[in-house]
Amino acid sequence: MYNTEELLELVNKALSENDVQKEPKGLYEPISYTLSLGGKRIRPILVLMAYNLYKDDIEKAIIPSIGLETYHNFTLLHDDLMDNADVRRGKLTVHKKWNDNTAILSGDNMLVMAMQRVAQCDAAHLPAIVNLFTKTAIEIDEGQQYDMDFEKRNDVTENEYIEMIRLKTSVLLACALKMGAILADAPSEDTELLYKFGEQIGLAFQLQDDYLDVYGDYKTFGKKIGGDIMCNKKTYMLINAQLLAKGEQAEELRKWINTENADPNLKVPAVTRIYTELGIPELCKNRINNYFEAALENLDKISIAEEKKAILKELAHQLLNRNK
Ligand code: IPE
Ligand code: IPE
Ligand code: MG
Ligand code: MG
Ligand code: MG
Repeated sequence: MYNTEELLELVNKALSENDVQKEPKGLYEPISYTLSLGGKRIRPILVLMAYNLYKDDIEKAIIPSIGLETYHNFTLLHDDLMDNADVRRGKLTVHKKWNDNTAILSGDNMLVMAMQRVAQCDAAHLPAIVNLFTKTAIEIDEGQQYDMDFEKRNDVTENEYIEMIRLKTSVLLACALKMGAILADAPSEDTELLYKFGEQIGLAFQLQDDYLDVYGDYKTFGKKIGGDIMCNKKTYMLINAQLLAKGEQAEELRKWINTENADPNLKVPAVTRIYTELGIPELCKNRINNYFEAALENLDKISIAEEKKAILKELAHQLLNRNK
């Protein structure tokens, strides 16, 4: 079995071998730029790990796996435009380094490249893979729309938030695992269990992303701290702070949410302080652990040897305790 580092190396090698250096440069340079900036490469690693649970010839799954990474990077170009984010992976985002139109069109091109790559599997698996991928991509758009809609609402419930992050984030991790399993002809019960495992890990993963957006360190996280606070993102943290804050604290939180064009140097530390006073970080960590446990219950039911499952469990554990 391949370990995580070996899979990461294979993914990065495939991405650089498939790097597109074509004209017009205005279209392709931002794509090369984005795909060469690294990132954790979790989605392709999950495709290959799931494949490798059942079969050894993982070369067959490599191009589809980088298809999912290409798709993920497409979502980031558009997401950074939507979230008005200046930096990602410690570098300027495409719409800041170039412009908004570049983020739109290079992003669109990456979406189509992603489709081409995902479809490079054997004919027998193609219908199932295309169905899975297109269904997932549509759900992610739905999640992104809820995420944007929620910025303008102040009555978002925790359940609505969880469904939103399931759509915008979880389904892609779940899809990655299921894709690997389908390509390796895994039993259908296993592909569903792997999907559910990915879904639960994905919820915890997005909670950790939201946590790091407030409590992370820019140098390792690579994204500007406090971006979600500035956009009034209805994260698990903000929703619970709104529920728990009383009196002056509630008043202050409301004031910051309603101040347009607030100074980030004032708003981010003020809202962060309220979260800390209310014990939101601990609440968040507990929830992450709960989703991790729920994910493991699905993993337990999968019909493969325990030693094989260990690698997935270990990766999930690392993801939920990450600082980047
Ligand atoms: C960022 O994804 C978007 C979210 C779903 C939180 P990652 O945290 O996987 O980003 P990279 O690819 O490692 O940069
Ligand atoms: C990630 O949401 C979801 C997608 C990109 C589809 P975020 O907006 O939280 O992601 P980051 O924090 O910008 O990476
Ligand atoms: Mg976003
Ligand atoms: Mg964002
Ligand atoms: Mg985020």
